[in-house]
Amino acid sequence: MTGDGGLTVGDSSSTSDPVASGAPDARPSRLCAKGLSVDYVRKGKSVRAVDNVDLELRDGEFVAIVGPSGSGKSTFLMAIDGLVPLSGGTVSVNGTVTHGPAPDRAVVFQDASLLPWRTIIDNVAYGLEIAKRPKAERYRIAEELIALTGLRGFEQFYPSQLSGGMRQRVNIARALASNPEVLLLDEPFSGLDAQTRETMQGELLKVWDEQKKTAVFVTHQIDEAVYLADRVIAFSARPARIVQEWRIPFERPRPLELKQTQKHRDIEAEIWAVVRHEGEKSAKGR
Ligand SMILES: Nc1ncnc2c1ncn2[C@@H]1O[C@H](COP(=O)(O)OP(=O)(O)OP(=O)(O)O)[C@@H](O)[C@H]1O
Ligand SMILES: [Mg+2]
Repeated sequence: MTGDGGLTVGDSSSTSDPVASGAPDARPSRLCAKGLSVDYVRKGKSVRAVDNVDLELRDGEFVAIVGPSGSGKSTFLMAIDGLVPLSGGTVSVNGTVTHGPAPDRAVVFQDASLLPWRTIIDNVAYGLEIAKRPKAERYRIAEELIALTGLRGFEQFYPSQLSGGMRQRVNIARALASNPEVLLLDEPFSGLDAQTRETMQGELLKVWDEQKKTAVFVTHQIDEAVYLADRVIAFSARPARIVQEWRIPFERPRPLELKQTQKHRDIEAEIWAVVRHEGEKSAKGR
C-alpha cells in the first residue's frame, strides 16, 4: 500500500491493462470531473458535500466508488449527471464541458423509478419517446435492450408484475436506451436479496461488455465493487474527497466464482480497512 492514493493492488504484471503496465492509456477520455465541489445549504448554512474531486474515465472503463454513508457519493453522481448545481469545477463528456442533464449521461438509481402505468417495453422506450424518435425505431431499440437484459416475454407486463431484480433490469435497459456515453449507477442492487444481487452483478457485466459503456458505479458492498470494476475509488467521510484508488487486476470476463478466490478477498479486505477507517472518522465528527 502506498498510502498516497496511487495504489495498485495485486500483481499488475498479470493484467493486460495498459495503465497498470506503465504504458500511456490511449483510450479517449469519456468523462472528466475536474475540481468538482458541491455545497448544500442547510438551515441557512452552507455544507460542503463534495470537495475538489478530480476523476477521469477512459472509454469503456468501469469505476466503482465506495465510502462511508453520507460521504457524498450520491451527490457526486448527481453532480456528474447535472442534477445538482456545482459549487466549483467542471464535468466534461468527450472533452466538452456539460451544463445540466443531457442524454450523454444516464443514471440508474437504487429504487426502480419506473412508470407504473406503462408496460415494460413502453418504460424502456420512454426516453426515446421524449426525444421524439420515430415509433419503429423506439421499439426496435427497446426490444434489443429487453433481449439484452433477459426480459424477453415480459414486454407487455407492468412494473408491479415483476420482481425487484427484474425491475432493475428494466431500469438498466431504460438507461441504455438513449445510448449514453456514460452510465451512472447509484447502488442499483441494494434493494435486492443476496442471491439476486449476485446474479444481477454477473448480468450487468455481460451487458456492460456487450455495450462497452463507460460506467461509474456507487456501492456500499466492497465485494461488488471489486468484482465489477477496473478501478475502485474510496471516498473520505464528508466532504467527499478521493482517499485512495485501487486498480483491480482481474482479467475479463470474470466468472462469479472469482469472488471466492483468496486474491479477491485480499483486495476486498484492503479496501474495507480504508472505508472502515473513514467511517469511524465520520462517526466521531457527528
Ligand atoms: N438535498 C440536500 N440538502 C442538504 N444536504 C444534503 C442533501 N442531499 C444530501 N445532503 C447531505 O450531503 C451529504 C452527502 O449525502 P449523499 O447522499 O451524497 O451521501 P452518500 O455517500 O450517497 O450516502 P449513502 O451511502 O448513505 O447513500 C450528507 O451529509 C447529506 O446529509
Ligand atoms: Mg447515496
